[in-house]
Amino acid sequence: MKKDFFKDSKIKYPAYEPWISDADKKIVSKTMEQDMLTLGPQLEKFEQSFSKYTNAKYAIAVSNCTAALHLSLKAIGVSTGDEVIIPDLTFVADANAVLACNAKPIIVDINKNDFFISIQNLKKNITKKTKAIIPVHIYGQVCNIEDILDVAKDNNLRVVEDCAHAVGTFHNSKHVGTIGETGCFSFYPTKNMTTAEGGMVTTNSKKIADSVRQLRSHGMTKSLKDRYSKGYPWIFDIIEPGYNYRLDEIRAALGISQLKRIKKINALRRNAALYYHSKLKNIPGIILPDMVNDKTHSYHLYTIRVTEKFRLSRNQLFKKLKDNGVRTTVYWMPVHEYTAYRKFAKSSSTKNTKSMYNEILSLPLFPTITKNHQNKVINIIKSCK
Ligand SMILES: Cc1ncc(COP(=O)(O)O)c(C=O)c1O
Repeated sequence: MKKDFFKDSKIKYPAYEPWISDADKKIVSKTMEQDMLTLGPQLEKFEQSFSKYTNAKYAIAVSNCTAALHLSLKAIGVSTGDEVIIPDLTFVADANAVLACNAKPIIVDINKNDFFISIQNLKKNITKKTKAIIPVHIYGQVCNIEDILDVAKDNNLRVVEDCAHAVGTFHNSKHVGTIGETGCFSFYPTKNMTTAEGGMVTTNSKKIADSVRQLRSHGMTKSLKDRYSKGYPWIFDIIEPGYNYRLDEIRAALGISQLKRIKKINALRRNAALYYHSKLKNIPGIILPDMVNDKTHSYHLYTIRVTEKFRLSRNQLFKKLKDNGVRTTVYWMPVHEYTAYRKFAKSSSTKNTKSMYNEILSLPLFPTITKNHQNKVINIIKSCK
C-alpha cells in the first residue's frame, strides 16, 4: 500500500490509487524518444483505438474533459445568450464549459431517489433560449438518457453527454457518448483509465468532428501533417479562433496502453463493487448504489447514501472512517451552492439535490484495492449500526 498522497500519517487506506503498469511505463518511455512529441502517431493511434472501443465514428483527443465539453458546445453552435441545462449534482466543469461559450448554465434539480436530472424540472426550465442539455452518466451509471432524448427531440435541443465517469458504460449495447451528439470523456488520474490529464470527444458527425479537431489546435484549417507534407507549412487559415487543447504524444501513448486493459480494469472495479454490495447489505439507513445486476456500469464510484435512519450522519461517518485511517469523499457539493453559480439555479429547483448531497459518500474503489482495505471500510461502517 502506498503512503497517503497528502502526507497524513494516520491515513492507511486511501480512496484511490493509480494503476500504472510496466507496459504503461514502457510505452511512455519509448514515446519520449520520438522526434515529434505532439500531434503525432500516438495521438492518431489513441483516437483510432478509442473510436473502435466505443464504436463512435470519430474520436478526437483533447487536453481534458472540460475542454471536450467546451469544444462540443462550440461545435454544435452554443454561443452568447444561449442557455444550456445541466444537473445540479455534477462537477462544476459542466457549468464552466457553458460559461466559456458565453452562454448561461441553467442548473436543474435531480430526482428524489436517484442521481439523475429530474425530467419534470428539466421541462420547466426550457425557454426560447435553451440550446442544449448536458446529461451526466454519474458515477459510471447510464443516466435517464432516453427520457432526456425525448425532451430534446420535442424541443429541438442538442445533447452533449458528459461521460467523464463512463469509459465502459453501455446503454442497449451502445457505448455512452455515441447516443447524443457528442460524448465527453475524462482521463484524469482517478478515472477508469488515465492519461494523467486528458479527455476525448466522440461523435458520429463529421461536421462536429472537423470543428472539434480544428478548435483544439487554435482553429487551424490544416493539420500539422498536411502543412508539412503539402505546400508551405505556414500557410493555413483560421476561420474560427480556437484554443490549445491538444493531448501530447506521451499522454496519448499512456492512453493507448490503458485502453488496452480497460476490460480488466473495469472487471476488477466490478468485483470490488460487488464485494461492498454483498457485505454492506441490510444495514438500516444505508442505501447501496443500484449496480448489482447492472452489467452496463463502468463501476467508477461506489457511492452509498447515509440516510436519517443510520445512527450517524454522513459527515459523522466520514469523520469516523477518517479517524480510523480511511479516506472517503463526496462527489460533490451541488453546483448551485458555489458562489459563482448560485445565480443560475432557481431555489425551487434544488431541493432534491440538497437532500441527496447530505447523504452521499463515495467509498474507496480502484482496480487494485485489496480485500483487507475493503474489509476495513466495511467493518467500520458495520460497527456504527
Ligand atoms: C462529471 C464530470 N464532468 C467533467 C469533469 C471534468 O474532467 P476533467 O478534469 O478531465 O476536465 C469531471 C472531473 O472530475 C467530472 O467528474
